Amino acid sequence: MKSSEFKKRRKRLLQQIGPGNIALLASAGHCVRNRDVHYPFRQDSDFFYLTGFNEPNALAVFVPGREQGEYLLFCREFDPTKALWEGAHAGLEGATHDYGADEAFPIAELDTVLPGLLEDKCKVYYPMGRDAELDRNVQAWIGTVRNKSRTGVVAPDELAALERIVHEMRLFKSPEEMALLRRAADVSAAGHITAMQACKAGLYEYQIEAELAYHFNREGLRAMAYPAIVAGGKNACTLHYTDNNSKLKQGDLLLIDAGAECNHYAADITRTFPISGKFSEPQRQLYQLVLDAQLAAIAQIKPGVNWIQPHETAVAVLTQGLLDLGLLKGRVKKLIKDEKYKAFYMHRTGHWLGMDVHDVGDYKINQQWREFAPGMVLTVEPGLYIPSDCKKVDEQWRGIGIRIEDDVLVTADGCEVLTAAAPKSVHEIEALMGGTQCQ
Ligand code: GLY
Ligand code: MN
Ligand code: MN
Repeated sequence: MKSSEFKKRRKRLLQQIGPGNIALLASAGHCVRNRDVHYPFRQDSDFFYLTGFNEPNALAVFVPGREQGEYLLFCREFDPTKALWEGAHAGLEGATHDYGADEAFPIAELDTVLPGLLEDKCKVYYPMGRDAELDRNVQAWIGTVRNKSRTGVVAPDELAALERIVHEMRLFKSPEEMALLRRAADVSAAGHITAMQACKAGLYEYQIEAELAYHFNREGLRAMAYPAIVAGGKNACTLHYTDNNSKLKQGDLLLIDAGAECNHYAADITRTFPISGKFSEPQRQLYQLVLDAQLAAIAQIKPGVNWIQPHETAVAVLTQGLLDLGLLKGRVKKLIKDEKYKAFYMHRTGHWLGMDVHDVGDYKINQQWREFAPGMVLTVEPGLYIPSDCKKVDEQWRGIGIRIEDDVLVTADGCEVLTAAAPKSVHEIEALMGGTQCQ
C-alpha cells in the first residue's frame, strides 16, 4: 500500500476530528504465547489503517491545526542490539522519514510529552474501553493537565469514541483496499480447490488444513485471517469447530471455512463437499437448498437494499426448503415468524469483511438496518446444521452440516462475488473431485 493512501486517510480523519480536539490511537502489543515466546505480531487494524506502521509499542497522536505538525508518532527508538537480534525497526528517524509522521518521540517519553499535547484541547478521541492501559493513561494524562489549572491551562472535558469515525471510513473500501481483498480472495479460493483435490477418506482433518496453509504460505500470504475450520461429518454442526483432528470418513461431507490474510485484509470462504467426491441423495438435497438460499441472498445485494434483506431472503428459501423436504412441518409464514428454522440455521447470513474478518462498521443507523452502498464488502454464508441426535427429523438428514460462504463487494449497480473461483455447484464440485479421486 502506498504511503499516499495512509496520508489521505489521516487527512480525512484530521478533518473530522476538527481543530481544538485531539485523537490518540495505540498500536497492538506483543502477545505472550508462553514464557518469553510471543505469537506472531499482528498490528491493530485501526492503527495500521491510519499509519501503515507495523510495530508494537507505538502511539499515534492526531492534532488538527497544530503548527509544528498534525501527526505525531511515539515509537521505539532505534536500538542496534535489537536490530541485530530481532531485525529492522523504524526508530524515530524512520517514523518521520518513511511513515510520514510530522514529529516522532520515544515511546519512553510518553508520560512526559503527552499531557502537554492535551492542554487546552476540548475533546479527546480514543478507542474507549479497548485497551485498559490506554484507558488508564488517558485518565492520568488528563489529571496531570488538570493539576496545572492554576497556570491557566484548561484540561479536556470530553471523551469521544474514535472508532465512530475510523470504522465508518473502514467500511468503504478504496481501490487499493479492494486489490488486497481480491488477492486474499483469489489465493483463498485456490486453496479451497487444492483442499478439494487433496481430500480423501482416511486422511485427518489437519492434513487438509495443512494443504490450505501450504498453499497460502507459498503464495506469500503467511497468516490465516482466522483459525481454519476443517470439519468432517457431524463436526460441521459445531459452528466454531477448530479441533481439526478427526479422521475423514467415506460417505461424509467435509466443511472447510478458511481464508488467507493479505497485507492485513481478510478472505472468508466456506465450502462443503463430499469426501468421496460424490454427494449422497440427502446430502445433495440439503446442499442444493443452502446453495439456492445463498444465490437468492446474493441476488438481493445492490446499493439501496438494506442489510437484513439478504438474510431474510435466505431464511425464506431455507424454511420453504426444509418444509418441502419434511424437516419442518407447518405453514411457511408461521415457521418464519416463530423462527423454527433456528433449530437448523442459528446464525446470521453474513458480516462486514475487511481488515478484520468480522469487520467494523455499524449495521444499523438510527435503529434502522443500513443500506448497502458501493465499496462495502460483506460475506454471504447461509448454512444448515442438522444435529446428529435430532430425533425430530428422519435419520437420513442427521449429522449433516453445510455452509456456503462467499465474499461480496457492493458495486455501483449490484455486486461482485470476489470468491467466485471456488467451485460451489454440485456439478462443479463433483467434476473437480471426480477428476482427482479413485472411486
Ligand atoms: N470464519 C468466520 C465466519 O465465517 O464468520
Ligand atoms: Mn464469515
Ligand atoms: Mn467463514
